[in-house]
Amino acid sequence: MDDLKAKYLEQVAHAADEGALEAIRVAAVGKKGEVALKMRELGKMTPEERQVAGPALNALKNEINSALAAKKVALADAALDERLKTEWLDVTLPGRARRIGSIHPISQVTEEVTAIFADMGFAVAEGPQIETDWYNFDALNIPGHHPARAEMDTFYTHRAEGDNRPPHVLRTHTSPVQIRSMEKTGAPIRIICPGRVYRADYDQTHTPMFHQIEGLAIDKDISMANLKWVLEEFFSAFFGTHVETRFRASHFPFTEPSAEVDIQCSWEGGTVKVGEGDDWLEVLGSGMVHPKVLEAGGIDPNEYQGFAFGIGIDRLAMLKYGIPDLRAFFDSDLRWLRHYGFASLDQPTLHGGLSR
Ligand code: PHE
Repeated sequence: MDDLKAKYLEQVAHAADEGALEAIRVAAVGKKGEVALKMRELGKMTPEERQVAGPALNALKNEINSALAAKKVALADAALDERLKTEWLDVTLPGRARRIGSIHPISQVTEEVTAIFADMGFAVAEGPQIETDWYNFDALNIPGHHPARAEMDTFYTHRAEGDNRPPHVLRTHTSPVQIRSMEKTGAPIRIICPGRVYRADYDQTHTPMFHQIEGLAIDKDISMANLKWVLEEFFSAFFGTHVETRFRASHFPFTEPSAEVDIQCSWEGGTVKVGEGDDWLEVLGSGMVHPKVLEAGGIDPNEYQGFAFGIGIDRLAMLKYGIPDLRAFFDSDLRWLRHYGFASLDQPTLHGGLSR
């Protein structure tokens, strides 16, 4: 019995894992294990012998069972220690700083312009970037043969062979939103429409995609004088200083009369400053909405009239924030975005400040 005890306690001590322990348990104290076999021999003993051997065998069985249980706990502890060694985490390490993104100058300027016009009672309207040629051209009094279609370097979508419907276009200006708004709400109207526009053109001041804001005000008594006041008010609020404007007679198919608007600036030291000096910079096209355009939008030109204008947002952003190359706007260069971007929590408002 002492040999059995020594043998199994030794095996338990050296067991490498739970599987080994289980094998030892079966061999030692299992139903057909060595201790059970010894117990079976009790029947052949004399009562005196049995009185000694019985309790001794029971004690042996208990001792092996406790050794097994103790070893099982020890193995589990060791396994946990091993795991903790590989899965440790230093909670005292400083956190990894994440850079906060910035608002693109175009988004910032769009918000600024929207805030200024909202204050003058203009709502924001939007239209699709892929347009039919009706909305982009015909409804705006630009018929098929009109040279303006060629001048605008239009991107056309592709139609399948044999499909003779006119192709869609990437809108070349935000003016189609004029027509869509007229159709949607009828007169009176007072809206601005910011958005992307497309023309096949690329150099330091032109990119194939750029941004415009269309303005449209229609009512029974709207005149060129209202247009001039609204634009002067806008420029002064936008640049934060009084800005003189110059209206030059021009031509657009969708306005009559038409005017291009210049703002006062100086070119001292190679940089533009708006609102001072005696140079002029062209920033937008405008005019009184052509009667044919009102008609195309379902508005009676004998009852209503109004003004429209289109400003280049990218150009405004370059002027206000001193950004020299338009193409950099769309390069997604993180250094550029960090330099020219705006804090995301600084929403432009008239009362809180348009730009910080
Ligand atoms: N749509 C014109 C352009 O893109 C601008 C414009 C808008 C002119 C509204 C007059 C009235 O050049």
